[in-house]
Amino acid sequence: MKRFLANLPIFALAACNGSPLPTTDDVSASRGMALFAQDCSSCHGADATGGIGPDLTGLSAQTGGVFPAQQVMAQIDGLERHGDADAVMPEFGADDMGATVIVEHEGLGTPVPADLLALTTYLESVQR
Ligand code: HEC
Repeated sequence: MKRFLANLPIFALAACNGSPLPTTDDVSASRGMALFAQDCSSCHGADATGGIGPDLTGLSAQTGGVFPAQQVMAQIDGLERHGDADAVMPEFGADDMGATVIVEHEGLGTPVPADLLALTTYLESVQR
């Protein structure tokens, strides 16, 4: 008897990264807004004006009108909170933040995960 099942192709399932939003290389503010609603709004409020975590709409105002993109990315990534038992905000860089895209920073191409860039782009768009 011929074994049909053995000839069926096997499709590998994409690895689950714990994020309900599918991984993409979309770095738009609207993607960032969806990620924010999913991962950040519980602490920072639906409109980023704060809650358990601080208001995120006045970051540029605190730094002389220039959006502090590098600090924001570092905070979301969370590497400097690593191992800090008192840290409230999760270390998002410990999870898969999507495909790496290259952004220009001080004349150098810097690899940044797409979700990190999308979140930062969204936050820049909500500065007062
Ligand atoms: C469990 C609560 C919690 C979640 C979830 C959370 N944060 Fe935070 N966040 C905080 C707290 C508390 C702080 C204050 C600094 C600290 O404790 O690290 C903070 C600080 C920040 C800051 C620095 C603000 C400043 O004034 O410099 C940024 C930017 C930020 N969060 C962005 C995000 C983004 C983006 C997400 C989602 C990817 C997120 N946070 C998710 C609690 C949270």
